Amino acid sequence: MIVDLNTAIAKLKAGQVVAIPTETVYGLAADARNDDALRQIYVIKERPANNPLIVHIDNISRVTDWVSEFPPLAQKLAKTFWPGPFTLVLPAKPHVSSILRANQPTVALRIPNHPLTLQLLQLSGLALAAPSANKFTQLSPTTAMHVQAGLGDEVPVLDGGACQVGIESTIVAVQGDDWQLLRPGMTSAASIATVAGKPAVSFNQAIKAPGQHTLHYSPRTRMQLIPSRDALVALANDSTAALLIGEGTLPDCVHFQLNKHAPDVAQQLYSTLHQMDALGKQLILVEVPPDAPEWAAILDRMTRAAS
Ligand code: TXA
Ligand code: MG
Repeated sequence: MIVDLNTAIAKLKAGQVVAIPTETVYGLAADARNDDALRQIYVIKERPANNPLIVHIDNISRVTDWVSEFPPLAQKLAKTFWPGPFTLVLPAKPHVSSILRANQPTVALRIPNHPLTLQLLQLSGLALAAPSANKFTQLSPTTAMHVQAGLGDEVPVLDGGACQVGIESTIVAVQGDDWQLLRPGMTSAASIATVAGKPAVSFNQAIKAPGQHTLHYSPRTRMQLIPSRDALVALANDSTAALLIGEGTLPDCVHFQLNKHAPDVAQQLYSTLHQMDALGKQLILVEVPPDAPEWAAILDRMTRAAS
């Protein structure tokens, strides 16, 4: 059910979950300090308990409510990339719910760049734990309608329009003055390296982003990544639907087309896959994007969706 801002605030304060818009994907939000509310997120998503949640805050001054260390490098990255599609993983304060962080010693934080959700955070005074508002392993939602279709109409949804970035945030862990990329996103590794003044490392004591199962972000219809346009043309037929990246047409096969501009493809990827899924074809064929750094996060999501 669609709810307005005041209803969303009242429900969240009462310990209920509400789906909220962000610039990346819709999140299934709950008060990050309320364990009963957090448990509902896992139940509704059918998410394994070993997969921690991201805490959404509205101001960088809130970071130290949650973390025991906020190293200068993390501060610099936060100041540069927040609000935005960028999540920081830092050592958690002992009081931070073990449900929220799935027993990790760390906690993930981000300031989302969405006016309605920033207003929600400011007016409520809450910090909101929010994973993507979809069932575990399924396609992430980028509209209120996707949330309702995926989770059912009982879940309250704050409608903030279509998500502008369209794929989940970049996740970075910081230890001292080193950083590690845990999940690629539209805040590029190159831009992070520029701000950090150094490339990513792999920490010895491997920090994991649990829950990044290979099977993830998947439509119900089987999906295959196709390395070239010619190969795609050869496979396309009446029982397939195809996603083309760039110009051209495909006779005799339902097809969708995205222009060859990575931010546009990211913005439209999930909503296009939702539409293709609804066609009920046997197979979704997706043309592999160009092999270039700005496509890394998109290729990551496509590969997971196809696995
Ligand atoms: O863009 C996004 O990040 C969206 C919106 C709603 O903010 N959220 C999102 O949440 O994608 P979710 O739960 O689908 O993905 C969160 C990822 C998981 O892969 C989890 O493993 C990782 O964040 N994560 C959370 N806390 C962590 C921690 N303490 N250490 C390592 N990884 C963590
Ligand atoms: Mg997710």
